Amino acid sequence: MLVRAAARRLAPALVRTRGNFHPQSVFQLTDPPNPRWNYGDGASAQWLDPTIPRKEFDFSSLSSRDTYKILTSAIVPRPIAFVSTLASDGVPNLAPFSYFSMVGHIPPLLSVSFSLSQKRLKHTRENIVATKEFTVNIISEAFAEAANCTAAEAPAEVDEWILSGLTMTPSTLVKPACVLESAVSLECELYFLKDLSAPDSEVVTATLAVGLIKKAHVHESVLDAEGAAIDPAKLRPLARLGGLTYTRLLEGFDIERTSWKAARPAYEKLLNGLGSKKNFPNPSSGDPE
Ligand SMILES: Cc1cc2nc3c(=O)[nH]c(=O)nc-3n(C[C@H](O)[C@H](O)[C@H](O)COP(=O)(O)O)c2cc1C
Repeated sequence: MLVRAAARRLAPALVRTRGNFHPQSVFQLTDPPNPRWNYGDGASAQWLDPTIPRKEFDFSSLSSRDTYKILTSAIVPRPIAFVSTLASDGVPNLAPFSYFSMVGHIPPLLSVSFSLSQKRLKHTRENIVATKEFTVNIISEAFAEAANCTAAEAPAEVDEWILSGLTMTPSTLVKPACVLESAVSLECELYFLKDLSAPDSEVVTATLAVGLIKKAHVHESVLDAEGAAIDPAKLRPLARLGGLTYTRLLEGFDIERTSWKAARPAYEKLLNGLGSKKNFPNPSSGDPE
Protein backbone atom coordinates (compact mmCIF):
# COMPACT_ATOMS: atom_id res chain seq x y z
CA MET A 1 0.00 0.00 0.00
CA LEU A 2 2.72 2.41 1.08
CA VAL A 3 4.84 1.52 -1.96
CA ARG A 4 1.86 2.18 -4.27
CA ALA A 5 1.15 5.55 -2.67
CA ALA A 6 4.81 6.50 -3.03
CA ALA A 7 4.84 5.39 -6.66
CA ARG A 8 1.71 7.47 -7.32
CA ARG A 9 3.42 10.53 -5.86
CA LEU A 10 6.44 9.88 -8.10
CA ALA A 11 4.41 9.31 -11.27
CA PRO A 12 4.40 12.08 -13.90
CA ALA A 13 1.54 14.57 -13.51
CA LEU A 14 -1.41 13.67 -15.68
CA VAL A 15 -3.42 16.33 -17.45
CA ARG A 16 -7.02 15.29 -16.87
CA THR A 17 -8.90 18.29 -18.22
CA ARG A 18 -8.91 17.70 -21.94
CA GLY A 19 -11.26 14.82 -22.54
CA ASN A 20 -10.48 11.17 -22.92
CA PHE A 21 -7.99 9.63 -25.29
CA HIS A 22 -9.93 7.56 -27.82
CA PRO A 23 -8.00 4.31 -28.37
CA GLN A 24 -10.70 3.10 -30.76
CA SER A 25 -10.04 5.95 -33.27
CA VAL A 26 -8.23 4.56 -36.28
CA PHE A 27 -6.55 6.01 -39.32
CA GLN A 28 -8.97 6.35 -42.22
CA LEU A 29 -8.62 7.38 -45.85
CA THR A 30 -11.04 10.10 -47.01
CA ASP A 31 -11.52 11.98 -50.27
CA PRO A 32 -9.08 14.85 -50.82
CA PRO A 33 -10.26 18.33 -49.72
CA ASN A 34 -11.40 19.24 -53.24
CA PRO A 35 -11.78 16.26 -55.60
CA ARG A 36 -12.89 18.71 -58.36
CA TRP A 37 -9.69 20.77 -58.24
CA ASN A 38 -8.24 21.56 -61.67
CA TYR A 39 -4.91 22.96 -62.90
CA GLY A 40 -4.61 26.68 -62.16
CA ASP A 41 -7.39 26.65 -59.54
CA GLY A 42 -5.10 27.56 -56.65
CA ALA A 43 -6.44 27.26 -53.12
CA SER A 44 -9.89 25.69 -52.84
CA ALA A 45 -11.00 27.91 -49.97
CA GLN A 46 -10.33 31.50 -48.95
CA TRP A 47 -9.13 30.54 -45.50
CA LEU A 48 -6.61 33.30 -44.75
CA ASP A 49 -8.27 36.68 -44.33
CA PRO A 50 -6.16 39.04 -46.53
CA THR A 51 -6.96 42.00 -44.26
CA ILE A 52 -5.06 40.36 -41.38
CA PRO A 53 -1.32 41.15 -41.56
CA ARG A 54 1.53 38.65 -41.44
CA LYS A 55 3.67 38.91 -38.33
CA GLU A 56 7.41 38.79 -39.00
CA PHE A 57 9.88 36.80 -36.90
CA ASP A 58 13.41 37.91 -37.67
CA PHE A 59 15.75 35.23 -36.41
CA SER A 60 18.77 37.54 -36.32
CA SER A 61 17.19 39.32 -33.33
CA LEU A 62 14.83 36.71 -31.86
CA SER A 63 15.84 34.95 -28.61
CA SER A 64 16.64 31.24 -28.89
CA ARG A 65 13.58 30.47 -26.76
CA ASP A 66 11.23 32.34 -29.09
CA THR A 67 12.94 30.89 -32.16
CA TYR A 68 12.37 27.42 -30.71
CA LYS A 69 8.72 28.24 -29.99
CA ILE A 70 7.87 29.50 -33.44
CA LEU A 71 9.81 26.88 -35.42
CA THR A 72 8.77 23.81 -33.45
CA SER A 73 5.13 24.87 -33.80
CA ALA A 74 5.50 25.80 -37.50
CA ILE A 75 7.34 22.72 -38.74
CA VAL A 76 4.70 20.15 -37.83
CA PRO A 77 3.98 17.34 -37.46
CA ARG A 78 7.50 16.03 -36.92
CA PRO A 79 8.20 12.31 -36.82
CA ILE A 80 10.03 11.19 -33.71
CA ALA A 81 13.19 9.09 -33.67
CA PHE A 82 13.36 7.01 -30.51
CA VAL A 83 17.11 6.54 -30.39
CA SER A 84 18.89 3.72 -28.61
CA THR A 85 22.66 4.00 -28.13
CA LEU A 86 25.42 2.59 -25.96
CA ALA A 87 28.07 4.64 -24.18
CA SER A 88 31.66 3.50 -24.70
CA ASP A 89 31.49 1.91 -21.21
CA GLY A 90 28.37 -0.02 -22.28
CA VAL A 91 25.70 2.04 -20.44
CA PRO A 92 22.53 1.94 -22.57
CA ASN A 93 20.72 5.15 -23.43
CA LEU A 94 17.30 5.82 -24.88
CA ALA A 95 15.81 9.21 -25.85
CA PRO A 96 13.32 10.77 -28.30
CA PHE A 97 14.30 13.30 -31.00
CA SER A 98 11.86 15.08 -33.29
CA TYR A 99 14.47 16.93 -35.34
CA PHE A 100 14.34 13.78 -37.42
CA SER A 101 13.82 12.99 -41.05
CA MET A 102 14.37 10.48 -43.81
CA VAL A 103 17.18 11.85 -45.98
CA GLY A 104 16.90 9.43 -48.88
CA HIS A 105 16.54 5.83 -49.91
CA ILE A 106 19.58 5.46 -52.22
CA PRO A 107 21.48 5.05 -49.99
CA PRO A 108 18.96 4.62 -47.14
CA LEU A 109 19.74 7.56 -44.86
CA LEU A 110 18.06 9.36 -41.97
CA SER A 111 18.98 12.44 -40.00
CA VAL A 112 18.65 13.29 -36.33
CA SER A 113 19.82 16.55 -34.82
CA PHE A 114 20.72 17.52 -31.34
CA SER A 115 20.24 20.91 -29.68
CA LEU A 116 23.20 21.44 -27.41
CA SER A 117 23.47 23.59 -24.32
CA GLN A 118 26.58 24.65 -22.46
CA LYS A 119 25.13 23.08 -19.30
CA ARG A 120 24.66 19.46 -20.26
CA LEU A 121 25.86 17.08 -22.96
CA LYS A 122 23.36 15.14 -25.05
CA HIS A 123 24.32 11.58 -24.20
CA THR A 124 22.85 10.23 -27.43
CA ARG A 125 25.19 12.51 -29.39
CA GLU A 126 28.19 11.54 -27.25
CA ASN A 127 27.41 7.84 -27.67
CA ILE A 128 27.02 8.11 -31.43
CA VAL A 129 30.34 10.00 -31.65
CA ALA A 130 32.01 7.29 -29.54
CA THR A 131 30.49 4.12 -31.02
CA LYS A 132 29.17 5.24 -34.47
CA GLU A 133 26.07 3.08 -33.99
CA PHE A 134 22.43 3.59 -33.02
CA THR A 135 18.95 2.28 -33.59
CA VAL A 136 15.92 4.43 -34.42
CA ASN A 137 12.62 3.06 -33.20
CA ILE A 138 9.17 4.32 -34.15
CA ILE A 139 6.92 5.34 -31.27
CA SER A 140 3.34 4.09 -31.34
CA GLU A 141 0.42 5.29 -29.21
CA ALA A 142 0.60 2.27 -26.89
CA PHE A 143 3.83 3.46 -25.29
CA ALA A 144 3.61 7.27 -25.58
CA GLU A 145 4.21 7.93 -21.88
CA ALA A 146 7.00 5.39 -21.59
CA ALA A 147 8.83 6.92 -24.55
CA ASN A 148 8.23 10.47 -23.34
CA CYS A 149 9.79 9.80 -19.93
CA THR A 150 13.13 8.89 -21.53
CA ALA A 151 13.57 12.59 -22.40
CA ALA A 152 14.47 13.23 -18.74
CA GLU A 153 17.78 15.07 -18.73
CA ALA A 154 19.33 12.45 -16.46
CA PRO A 155 23.00 11.86 -15.61
CA ALA A 156 24.99 9.73 -18.11
CA GLU A 157 24.99 6.67 -15.86
CA VAL A 158 21.17 6.57 -15.84
CA ASP A 159 19.62 3.84 -17.97
CA GLU A 160 16.38 5.31 -19.33
CA TRP A 161 15.20 1.82 -20.32
CA ILE A 162 14.63 1.10 -16.62
CA LEU A 163 12.73 4.36 -16.11
CA SER A 164 10.49 3.65 -19.11
CA GLY A 165 9.78 -0.01 -18.45
CA LEU A 166 10.39 -0.69 -22.14
CA THR A 167 12.17 -3.83 -23.31
CA MET A 168 15.42 -4.34 -25.19
CA THR A 169 15.57 -6.73 -28.10
CA PRO A 170 18.95 -7.43 -29.71
CA SER A 171 19.94 -5.82 -33.00
CA THR A 172 21.80 -7.98 -35.48
CA LEU A 173 24.26 -5.59 -37.15
CA VAL A 174 24.87 -2.96 -34.45
CA LYS A 175 25.37 -3.21 -30.70
CA PRO A 176 22.63 -0.88 -29.36
CA ALA A 177 19.37 -2.73 -28.77
CA CYS A 178 16.09 -2.15 -30.55
CA VAL A 179 12.89 -1.40 -28.62
CA LEU A 180 10.75 -4.55 -28.50
CA GLU A 181 7.55 -2.49 -28.17
CA SER A 182 8.37 -0.55 -31.38
CA ALA A 183 6.75 -2.12 -34.43
CA VAL A 184 9.51 -0.62 -36.59
CA SER A 185 13.19 -0.42 -35.67
CA LEU A 186 16.04 0.72 -37.88
CA GLU A 187 19.64 -0.34 -37.30
CA CYS A 188 21.93 2.56 -38.21
CA GLU A 189 25.61 3.23 -38.65
CA LEU A 190 26.87 6.82 -38.44
CA TYR A 191 27.31 8.12 -42.02
CA PHE A 192 28.52 11.57 -41.07
CA LEU A 193 28.23 14.02 -38.25
CA LYS A 194 28.34 17.80 -38.53
CA ASP A 195 28.60 20.18 -35.60
CA LEU A 196 26.72 23.42 -36.26
CA SER A 197 27.15 27.00 -35.02
CA ALA A 198 25.35 30.29 -35.62
CA PRO A 199 26.82 32.04 -38.71
CA ASP A 200 28.66 34.60 -36.56
CA SER A 201 29.87 32.23 -33.85
CA GLU A 202 32.30 29.41 -33.16
CA VAL A 203 30.16 27.95 -30.38
CA VAL A 204 28.69 24.58 -31.35
CA THR A 205 24.97 24.73 -30.57
CA ALA A 206 23.65 21.80 -32.57
CA THR A 207 24.86 18.59 -34.20
CA LEU A 208 23.42 16.92 -37.26
CA ALA A 209 23.92 13.16 -37.38
CA VAL A 210 23.17 11.31 -40.59
CA GLY A 211 22.78 7.56 -40.23
CA LEU A 212 23.04 4.84 -42.85
CA ILE A 213 20.07 2.52 -42.32
CA LYS A 214 21.50 -0.98 -42.50
CA LYS A 215 18.42 -3.00 -41.62
CA ALA A 216 14.75 -2.53 -40.69
CA HIS A 217 12.89 -4.81 -38.30
CA VAL A 218 9.12 -4.62 -38.84
CA HIS A 219 6.56 -6.44 -36.72
CA GLU A 220 4.52 -8.41 -39.24
CA SER A 221 1.24 -7.20 -37.73
CA VAL A 222 1.84 -3.65 -39.06
CA LEU A 223 2.62 -4.65 -42.64
CA ASP A 224 0.12 -3.99 -45.42
CA ALA A 225 -1.50 -6.78 -47.43
CA GLU A 226 1.51 -7.13 -49.78
CA GLY A 227 3.94 -7.20 -46.87
CA ALA A 228 6.18 -4.62 -48.53
CA ALA A 229 5.08 -1.42 -46.77
CA ILE A 230 3.73 -0.37 -43.41
CA ASP A 231 0.03 0.33 -42.89
CA PRO A 232 -0.37 3.59 -40.89
CA ALA A 233 -3.67 2.34 -39.44
CA LYS A 234 -1.76 -0.53 -37.87
CA LEU A 235 1.40 1.36 -36.92
CA ARG A 236 -0.45 4.12 -35.02
CA PRO A 237 2.65 6.33 -34.97
CA LEU A 238 3.06 9.47 -32.87
CA ALA A 239 4.47 12.75 -34.10
CA ARG A 240 5.47 15.99 -32.39
CA LEU A 241 3.81 19.39 -32.56
CA GLY A 242 4.96 22.51 -30.68
CA GLY A 243 5.26 22.67 -26.89
CA LEU A 244 4.46 19.41 -25.12
CA THR A 245 1.96 18.26 -27.73
CA TYR A 246 2.04 14.93 -29.52
CA THR A 247 -0.26 14.06 -32.38
CA ARG A 248 -1.70 10.88 -33.82
CA LEU A 249 -2.35 9.91 -37.41
CA LEU A 250 -6.11 9.62 -37.86
CA GLU A 251 -6.91 10.71 -41.41
CA GLY A 252 -5.26 10.72 -44.79
CA PHE A 253 -6.18 11.17 -48.44
CA ASP A 254 -4.61 10.22 -51.75
CA ILE A 255 -4.00 12.67 -54.60
CA GLU A 256 -2.73 11.34 -57.94
CA ARG A 257 0.87 12.29 -58.75
CA THR A 258 0.76 14.94 -61.51
CA SER A 259 2.32 13.77 -64.75
CA TRP A 260 3.71 16.48 -66.99
CA LYS A 261 2.10 14.74 -69.94
CA ALA A 262 -1.34 15.21 -68.38
CA ALA A 263 -0.63 18.71 -67.08
CA ARG A 264 0.94 20.11 -70.27
CA PRO A 265 -2.30 20.82 -72.23
CA ALA A 266 -3.76 22.51 -69.15
CA TYR A 267 -0.58 24.57 -68.79
CA GLU A 268 -0.75 25.65 -72.46
CA LYS A 269 -4.36 26.70 -71.97
CA LEU A 270 -3.48 28.64 -68.82
CA LEU A 271 -0.57 30.35 -70.62
CA ASN A 272 -2.85 31.29 -73.53
CA GLY A 273 -5.30 32.73 -71.04
CA LEU A 274 -2.46 34.90 -69.70
CA GLY A 275 -1.75 36.05 -73.27
CA SER A 276 1.66 34.41 -73.36
CA LYS A 277 3.18 31.65 -75.48
CA LYS A 278 6.31 29.91 -74.24
CA ASN A 279 8.39 26.86 -75.04
CA PHE A 280 8.78 24.42 -72.21
CA PRO A 281 10.57 21.10 -71.79
CA ASN A 282 9.20 17.82 -73.08
CA PRO A 283 7.95 15.21 -70.64
CA SER A 284 10.68 13.73 -68.48
CA SER A 285 10.39 10.78 -66.17
CA GLY A 286 10.24 11.73 -62.50
CA ASP A 287 11.96 10.01 -59.63
CA PRO A 288 9.99 9.06 -56.54
CA GLU A 289 10.30 11.79 -53.91
C1 LIG B 1 9.10 14.26 -28.16
C2 LIG B 1 10.46 14.85 -27.87
C3 LIG B 1 11.26 15.24 -28.92
C4 LIG B 1 12.54 15.75 -28.68
N1 LIG B 1 13.31 16.13 -29.74
C5 LIG B 1 14.56 16.56 -29.54
C6 LIG B 1 15.40 16.87 -30.66
O1 LIG B 1 15.02 16.73 -31.81
N2 LIG B 1 16.66 17.30 -30.40
C7 LIG B 1 17.12 17.43 -29.13
O2 LIG B 1 18.27 17.81 -28.96
N3 LIG B 1 16.36 17.13 -28.06
C8 LIG B 1 15.10 16.69 -28.24
N4 LIG B 1 14.31 16.35 -27.17
C9 LIG B 1 14.89 16.40 -25.83
C10 LIG B 1 15.74 15.16 -25.55
O3 LIG B 1 14.99 13.97 -25.67
C11 LIG B 1 16.31 15.27 -24.13
O4 LIG B 1 17.20 16.36 -24.09
C12 LIG B 1 16.98 14.01 -23.65
O5 LIG B 1 17.33 14.17 -22.30
C13 LIG B 1 18.21 13.67 -24.42
O6 LIG B 1 18.71 12.49 -23.89
P1 LIG B 1 20.22 12.11 -23.82
O7 LIG B 1 20.99 13.23 -23.15
O8 LIG B 1 20.22 10.85 -23.04
O9 LIG B 1 20.66 11.95 -25.23
C14 LIG B 1 13.02 15.88 -27.37
C15 LIG B 1 12.19 15.51 -26.29
C16 LIG B 1 10.92 15.00 -26.54
C17 LIG B 1 10.05 14.60 -25.39
